[in-house]
Amino acid sequence: MTGSDGIEKLIRPNLVGFTGYSASTSPDTLAGKVEVPPEGIIKMNANENPYGCSPRVLKALAHAPNLNIYPDDGQQELRKRLSAYAAAPADCIVAGHGSNSLIDLLVRLFVGPGDEVINCVPTFDIYRFSTEICGGTVVNVPRDDDFEVSVNSVKKAISPKTKLIFLATPNNPTGNIVPQTDLLKILETGLPVVVDEAYYEFSGETAMPYRKNYQNLIVLRSFSKWAGLAGLRIGYGVFPPRIAAYMMAIKIPHNVSVAAEIAVRESLADLAYLQGKINAIIEERSRLFDELQKFNWLKPYPSRANFIYVAVLRGTAAALHLELQQKGILVRYFDRSLLKNSIRVSVGKPEHTDALVRALKELS
Ligand SMILES: Cc1ncc(COP(=O)(O)O)c(C=O)c1O
Repeated sequence: MTGSDGIEKLIRPNLVGFTGYSASTSPDTLAGKVEVPPEGIIKMNANENPYGCSPRVLKALAHAPNLNIYPDDGQQELRKRLSAYAAAPADCIVAGHGSNSLIDLLVRLFVGPGDEVINCVPTFDIYRFSTEICGGTVVNVPRDDDFEVSVNSVKKAISPKTKLIFLATPNNPTGNIVPQTDLLKILETGLPVVVDEAYYEFSGETAMPYRKNYQNLIVLRSFSKWAGLAGLRIGYGVFPPRIAAYMMAIKIPHNVSVAAEIAVRESLADLAYLQGKINAIIEERSRLFDELQKFNWLKPYPSRANFIYVAVLRGTAAALHLELQQKGILVRYFDRSLLKNSIRVSVGKPEHTDALVRALKELS
């Protein structure tokens, strides 16, 4: 074999030319390129928790014994703790290295070449990413102008090849939820429905109680947002028991670190503290929305998550994103067919809202 051409011939054909997932910009990559040093950058581009994690997590990690020992591959203690929090039996729960990894594992469990996955676009891009890596076909069902999912369109998109239906609620990047009545109609199809509740703690809405009546319901949750643990990578899913057993069987061994296990234990022991921060973010979301609405060239959409989707009505979102970046404020921007000329702003602390508003006024 000579050169990279030879190697490409060996790569799975569906991955040749695959461009991957475009993750948010990290402040480290901007050092020397913007007016503000990395530590002064206000990060409103990845829906992280601006308050960080519980102080109990930091304390426990500083004194963690046994980091030289592998974690329990069966996740017994972890599943028990998550069971109490999620109000679901421990044998239905599987934890992973962020809920992204559980999305990926689910797709690997269900989807092979030629299989179809229903994706209610615009939505979180990882559903497409993992499906394409597995050689599956993404069947896009466009949302309406207010980003609502059309149950009829989802039903029409179902074929004998459909393996999974993904529903993010609240949806990323649009922030709206799938009403429970619509969710139930989609569950009635009997196909595996993955309800992605990464932002559940900010919306207060969950499909969890429907588990008892629907053996096709899968609920995914994350500790990245509400518990401030994005950097440690920990999420979990609640599955019908047979699917949970398969997920445990096909996961990479030790897929949750000892540090992440400790962080879950301490977060769940500090719920009152974390709830206080969630409440502060929800309150700030409302103030940020009101402030954004005052700009006649911006159209914020109501959100049940910890971010706000904003259509840019004058100029380009790409330029706005760059201008804000120069001022040390990172937001996510979009300009593609179903997400035209828009930005997504994560809810920060009050001083972050103030800094953003000041910057927007300067650009008005
Ligand atoms: C809808 C949705 N699901 C899942 C995730 C992944 O979260 P995690 O950090 O747990 O992998 C995100 C992260 O942005 C998200 O927006």
